[in-house]
Amino acid sequence: MEIDRRKFFTGLGGVAAARLMGHEAKADALEDFLSNELDKKASGGTGASGPGSTFFPPPAPGKKFPTAAEQEALIETRTYRRGAGSLFAGANKVKKLAPMPASPTIVDYFQLRFNNFSNHVLQSAALAKKNGMSEEIILACLLHDVVQCMIKTDHGWWGAQLFEPYVPAKTTFAIRHHQTLRYFEDKENGYEVPDLYRNLFGYDYVPAPHILANYKFVRNHKWYILPRQVTLNDLYAFDPNAKVSLDPFIDLLHKHFRSPKEGLGNDNSPVAHMWRTIAQPDVPL
Ligand SMILES: [Fe+2]
Ligand SMILES: [Fe+2]
Repeated sequence: MEIDRRKFFTGLGGVAAARLMGHEAKADALEDFLSNELDKKASGGTGASGPGSTFFPPPAPGKKFPTAAEQEALIETRTYRRGAGSLFAGANKVKKLAPMPASPTIVDYFQLRFNNFSNHVLQSAALAKKNGMSEEIILACLLHDVVQCMIKTDHGWWGAQLFEPYVPAKTTFAIRHHQTLRYFEDKENGYEVPDLYRNLFGYDYVPAPHILANYKFVRNHKWYILPRQVTLNDLYAFDPNAKVSLDPFIDLLHKHFRSPKEGLGNDNSPVAHMWRTIAQPDVPL
């Protein structure tokens, strides 16, 4: 489905009329528009828009991005699927992993298994701290993408599930829904869709129906701002060589991360197997 921005604004009475609308009213109008277009598509009507219209706002003039179709055409050029976690698959050969301690803590996972993502999330948590975010949100930023070592597809939901037994509810909510909010501009709060997504998905990509439906839910939730704060403190052009450290966040982890005494993966929680999968990605079955 494509979003016809002109049609959307015409429905509101024009761009000038839209400017006079409150934030909530605009969000509601967008949600209604999305729902109607989805319904039309489901019933066989035309939900498509004219040429040049995309879900993501138009990129800056002169910038070139792939189309969603071009990204899809690359699928059969790879030996792995893009949703596979980086501990399991990628363009390079994997390395032998250091053994985990008998009762591993979240710090051990950071140091021994989250390698590919710790730089990114440490930069994000440092930014959240600098911007005066709450401890629940600094923690959410610290954890928001590390599940991508196991799986990337729907990583908001996977990540929230992985941490849910151990962290505050607000942190879980922020992790789960940051995935959805990344696709949606919120200029009032200072969020614009980053070019990273136009490159990753294609500039004319339209998020899956479950993302559109989840946006409707989160946008109306009293905790909307929490996952929005994760997207605002996320880094979309992060520096892989930046000097980062877990040390400034150890006290935060001790305060808000309820580490099981048996060790993560040994506590028989509903998600213990996920931790074991991250600890032992070379076990064949
Ligand atoms: Fe993310
Ligand atoms: Fe991120």
